[in-house]
Amino acid sequence: MTHIQVPFPEGFLWGASTAAHQIEGNNTNSDWWVKEHSTGTHIQEPSLDACDSYHRWTEDMDLLASLGFTDYRFSVEWARVEPVEGRFSRAELAHYRRMVEGAIARGLRPMVTLHHFTVPQWFEARGGWTADGATELFARYVAACAPVISEGVSHVCTINEPNMIAVMAGQAKRGDIGFPPAGLPTPDDETTEAVIAAHHAAVKEVRAIDAGIQVGWTIANQVYQARPGAEEVTAAYRHPREDVFIEAARGDDWIGVQSYTRTEIGPDGPIPTAGDVERTLTQWEYYPAAVGHALRHTAEVIGPEMPLIVTENGIATADDTRRVAYYTGALNEVASAIEDGLNVQGYLAWSALDNYEWGSFAPTFGLIAVDWETFERTARPSAEWLGSLGRTRQLPRTAG
Ligand code: BGC
Repeated sequence: MTHIQVPFPEGFLWGASTAAHQIEGNNTNSDWWVKEHSTGTHIQEPSLDACDSYHRWTEDMDLLASLGFTDYRFSVEWARVEPVEGRFSRAELAHYRRMVEGAIARGLRPMVTLHHFTVPQWFEARGGWTADGATELFARYVAACAPVISEGVSHVCTINEPNMIAVMAGQAKRGDIGFPPAGLPTPDDETTEAVIAAHHAAVKEVRAIDAGIQVGWTIANQVYQARPGAEEVTAAYRHPREDVFIEAARGDDWIGVQSYTRTEIGPDGPIPTAGDVERTLTQWEYYPAAVGHALRHTAEVIGPEMPLIVTENGIATADDTRRVAYYTGALNEVASAIEDGLNVQGYLAWSALDNYEWGSFAPTFGLIAVDWETFERTARPSAEWLGSLGRTRQLPRTAG
């Protein structure tokens, strides 16, 4: 098998990502916890203890560092830091500061996400993102995170996948349960405006904490591909679901690119994946080339200067050899994007651990497997291979 020497630039971020609610467990003051224990949702099982990473984060970081990763993206949980409106928990801020210091001590550069889908239940109860004062409340929380991020954190993500927040808000407003068979629900415009305003306010707060922090946000890229003749339909479909959020990153220090699969669009809209196509455990088409398309599209919308960081990319599978194959294909795409001059500055896999996939533990994205009885962690062969690639830089070449 031929190999390529991957052309990662100096300082390239090489790591894996997680999100607090998906791994910590017992995030009882969050809106999601409440949803998980309500009826009439798509949620199949509650998160409960998740991976118990709230207590076992040192094990997670030890493993990631020993595997060869140099970067770890994790999130701070707003519902823990501000469990009651206006009341900030010094103990929780100290907990996340210990995580930042623990990462640095292990040789992992922390990338800190300040909001990854969950909000405090009190924030949800007062109307969520579109209620009066939401931007100010988020900005105040961001400012309160100063003790966590003011030293040793080079990258901060304000809001993860704002486009998915808008899409889910649209779905909730219409009272729909579940996603359409192809494509994404229509986003709620008011929520789009609100999260963009919240992001811009948060960027200011982060820069006020330390102007040296690189701040950005991370977008869910669905890799919309036009079937012949459907170019305009595709652009119109994509704009409110993706491009408007990429455009809102102008002036940031970097933008996060997150992709897993593609969505094909015909003249009548999104086309469901054909029955004979390989699917992953999330039922998405197995499509490792997604990340290359996502990087190129993002650069096209925002311009060539903006640093791009792949902040999530991966596959839910029970077959770890398919995970290796997926990452091999994906990283070949990243390598060729860099060779073509795209300003790609990092790659963080989703996910470090098997985790709570927003309603179910079944889709296993983890480089590291978790025993749900004992919480024991076991690095999969894909983790050993991917981690070591940071050092060897030897990537098997895939055709095409
Ligand atoms: C989210 C993650 C999620 C992953 C896989 C992204 O949309 O940021 O929280 O687990 O995709 O579904």
